[in-house]
Amino acid sequence: MTFAKRTHHLKPEGAYEVLARANQLEAAGKEIIHLEIGQPDYATFENVSQAGIEAIRTGKTRYTPPAGVPALREAIAEQAGRQRGIEVHPNEVVVSPGGKPNLFFPTLALIEPGDEVIYPNPGFPTYEAMIKVAGGVPVAVPLLEQNQFSFDLEAFDKLINEKIRLIILNSPSNPTGGVIPPADLEHIASQAEQYGCWVMSDEIYARIVYDGLEAPSIVTLSGMKERTIIVDGFSKTYSMTGWRLGFGIMPKELADKVDLLLTHSVGSTAHFTQFAGLEAVTGPQDMVDVMVTEYQRRRDAIVDGLNTIPGFVCQKPQGAFYVFPNITGTGMSSSDLANLILEKAGVALLPGNSFGKYGEGYLRISYANSLENIEKGLEKIRTVLK
Ligand SMILES: Cc1ncc(COP(=O)(O)O)c(C=O)c1O
Repeated sequence: MTFAKRTHHLKPEGAYEVLARANQLEAAGKEIIHLEIGQPDYATFENVSQAGIEAIRTGKTRYTPPAGVPALREAIAEQAGRQRGIEVHPNEVVVSPGGKPNLFFPTLALIEPGDEVIYPNPGFPTYEAMIKVAGGVPVAVPLLEQNQFSFDLEAFDKLINEKIRLIILNSPSNPTGGVIPPADLEHIASQAEQYGCWVMSDEIYARIVYDGLEAPSIVTLSGMKERTIIVDGFSKTYSMTGWRLGFGIMPKELADKVDLLLTHSVGSTAHFTQFAGLEAVTGPQDMVDVMVTEYQRRRDAIVDGLNTIPGFVCQKPQGAFYVFPNITGTGMSSSDLANLILEKAGVALLPGNSFGKYGEGYLRISYANSLENIEKGLEKIRTVLK
């Protein structure tokens, strides 16, 4: 069979591959500790689930406007604007089934074949996939461990030029947990203005930050709102991965194009899911705080634990629920080490290079699992590496 060239480069996400192997081992009777998955281990909050159930009961099971029901767009505009200290109009909000369509469709709407796109490496694998599907040229900028895994700005300055149409940022980051410092955002913003680039700021983990810190958004910087697409969603903040609910905030003209792409692809986001989302945004927020406080406890435990394993050096990330230890001291490659840990220790985690070539020398470990399982996993890794 032959397929269109735009599909040739597509590969599975590393997380799904490792999960499949881990499930095989489990089916064969081996105990596996899952630290590979990028989803909260909490159930969707009760008030949100109830709102979804009630929405089904009251017939909210129809098509909706492709960019979302007005009540949800209004609530997101208010909440997301307040969170970032900016004014957002509901017609700048596009609701989608998960955050991913709001990565993909603005990219399709902006990128002509041959346009260059800067993206973080190591980074979320969807970025490279969507750039290539759009016919763009991915330009990887390495993240620097010694700078909270923010862009290597020297490399960034060398790579930015008139051909760059879009710069993708992700803070807090998957896979590193790093938060881009304000000075770096200012530098990137001034370059984006100088070269007339769009910025896609993936802020899906913006509410999962620690030590009282906030993850600043590039959209707040002068002149940036008209060239920024914020991507955010409900999967991580409200533990709603399977509900498929996300949103983008962007200038209205671009939002209208994304609306059309949604119209002709997914049609609309599930009706009742949007009402669950409305409750998530407008209802009590205390469960988000409970979850983040617990993640911080786990982060501290996993970082301390990893730093006692010979060959591992682990920074304390400021956001998301991942750690990205440097494992070069073990003398093994990321893939060999991740395989060894899965097969011999029964702990599933991801090699850093499944997030791009600059992820070689690292592992990505998710701590969206109980403290008890994290401690057990660390002990198993320690034993195998002895
Ligand atoms: C950095 C990043 N962006 C976007 C997403 C998309 O999430 P969703 O489509 O569930 O909203 C994820 C999910 O893992 C992610 O890690």
